[in-house]
Amino acid sequence: MSDAHHESNRHFYDRIAGAYDLIADANERAARQAGVSALAVTPGESVLELGFGTGNEVLDLARLVGPTGTVAGVDISPGMLAVTERKIAAAAPAAKVDLRVADARSLPFADASFDETYTSFTLELFPAADIPVVLTEVRRVLKPGGRLAVVSMATVRPGHHVSALERTYVWMHRHFPHLVDCRPIDTEALVAAAGFTVAAVADREIWTMPVRVVTAKK
Ligand SMILES: C[S@@+](CC[C@H](N)C(=O)[O-])C[C@H]1O[C@@H](n2cnc3c(N)ncnc32)[C@H](O)[C@@H]1O
Repeated sequence: MSDAHHESNRHFYDRIAGAYDLIADANERAARQAGVSALAVTPGESVLELGFGTGNEVLDLARLVGPTGTVAGVDISPGMLAVTERKIAAAAPAAKVDLRVADARSLPFADASFDETYTSFTLELFPAADIPVVLTEVRRVLKPGGRLAVVSMATVRPGHHVSALERTYVWMHRHFPHLVDCRPIDTEALVAAAGFTVAAVADREIWTMPVRVVTAKK
């Protein structure tokens, strides 16, 4: 997939980094926290977050892994990194925190480095051809038996009602991808196709639009 897409995402998230918590936090927080809980992180583990954004879950994960654990994160936007670094400096978590500007399609970590990977509202930003690339990278850096949690806008299940807002959202993504950069994905099918064993799927909603929390095992 063209790097122009990822470059434009970087600029977009750099521009909105300072306001992101105001725009997204209230609506998405509960789903993000459900994803963190579903991972069942324990003290001393090492967790990787893809697309950490404004870092709210970096802080939650750091509390869960505690002083003997590590939270690493990648985000393509230096602006998001700056916001998150300010929060980390203020909260001073005991865990080791290693945040980097990097592309989730090419993770700057050795094979089998992490017990878990967490990502929220990020996988659905990637062009279809890149999603398997990202998930293959996640498999590579997870330890054997390592766990993954993905929180994402998700496709409406067959036979379920498609709300007017859902239709508008998908239409906007198709016609104005520069305004609506993400679209619903079939999260569990994508995770399974990348070779993970899906362990649990929880359906949620944001403003009538389906959101799914999928946990899986390498
Ligand atoms: C919609 S925000 C979600 C942020 C956060 N996970 C949350 O749930 O609030 C998507 C994040 O993914 C990052 N991102 C976009 N493309 C990326 C890529 N190719 N590699 C790593 N991060 C990326 C953006 O910079 C942004 O911070």
